[in-house]
Amino acid sequence: MSGFPPPLIGRHPARVLSNLDAPLGGLRRMILHAPELARTAQPGHFVQLSCGTDLTLRRPLSIAGADPVAGEVELLYAVVGEGTRRMVQWRPGDPADLLGPIGRPFTLPPPGETALLLGGGVGTAPMVYLARALAAAGIGGTLFVGFRRPEGGHRSAALPLGSPLEQALSNGSDQADGLVTDHAARRLESLPPEPRGAIRLYACGPPLMLRAVAALAQRFALSGEVSLEERMACGFGGCAGCVAPMKDPAAPQGWTHRRVCVDGPVFPLDAVDWERYLAAHGG
Ligand SMILES: Cc1cc2nc3c(=O)[nH]c(=O)nc-3n(C[C@H](O)[C@H](O)[C@H](O)COP(=O)(O)OP(=O)(O)OC[C@H]3O[C@@H](n4cnc5c(N)ncnc54)[C@H](O)[C@@H]3O)c2cc1C
Ligand code: FES
Repeated sequence: MSGFPPPLIGRHPARVLSNLDAPLGGLRRMILHAPELARTAQPGHFVQLSCGTDLTLRRPLSIAGADPVAGEVELLYAVVGEGTRRMVQWRPGDPADLLGPIGRPFTLPPPGETALLLGGGVGTAPMVYLARALAAAGIGGTLFVGFRRPEGGHRSAALPLGSPLEQALSNGSDQADGLVTDHAARRLESLPPEPRGAIRLYACGPPLMLRAVAALAQRFALSGEVSLEERMACGFGGCAGCVAPMKDPAAPQGWTHRRVCVDGPVFPLDAVDWERYLAAHGG
């Protein structure tokens, strides 16, 4: 994980610049003017967004991109409930209220290594930001994304990423073409041991997908990091409402709970106790 102290979480009065359908998996793309946040954000950070003073809890959303020069921050979101339904109504010029940047960001691969990124559903958002950061740092990487709703999928993404993008649409329909982890496994199988051993895995998505990524890491002896999207309340470490089970040899039972909002959301792939994590998510 990053060796730098986390930036202070600030409250950012922001302004909507655009809010349109994204050319990616049926997600919406919102660009906000939030200069201080754009300056301090890193891939893996998220924000707590107010969707109205009558909705007590802010909504956690990953930062999908930040341009410190233009002072812009990008979000990619799926419309699933009251808060995100309200977001769809926001127009250019409307105010927005954000807390961030929150959490521990991804660690970029060390020199000589490349990256394989996997995003599932809304978990694509932090992967898009990471893909851009890797490209900006001159680090090779490929982004595999998967969406469960073929009707919302797009074969070609017009998002500027800098890294190659491969998409899998998977829900068992005629259009389905396999899980994102199957695509990644085929890519890894096709590589000779030398370049393959220098690949670092990064993932964000639903629990079953993440466990499949952890299994890939084990099978090919790769290290990596995962961002967990746990349900959250406070979002800054105060309520323990977001805990996830982590391996801990020092703990009497061999595992412990960590708060995803401030101890994560990014954790090493091999730190998560995947069986307990899956059990907690009905897997
Ligand atoms: C760290 C983090 C980063 C996230 N990043 C993104 C992102 O970049 N883009 C995005 O679209 N979403 C993201 N999410 C999920 C997002 O927070 C929820 O979809 C959002 O809060 C739903 O708000 P709502 O008011 O529209 O729906 P609600 O009315 O609150 O809920 C509607 C439905 O969504 C489910 N839901 C709510 N929160 C979650 C969650 N965390 N995980 C799984 N299901 C949930 C509820 O169970 C319910 O079925 C992230 C979550 C976390 C914890
Ligand atoms: S959401 Fe309250 S501690 Fe994480």
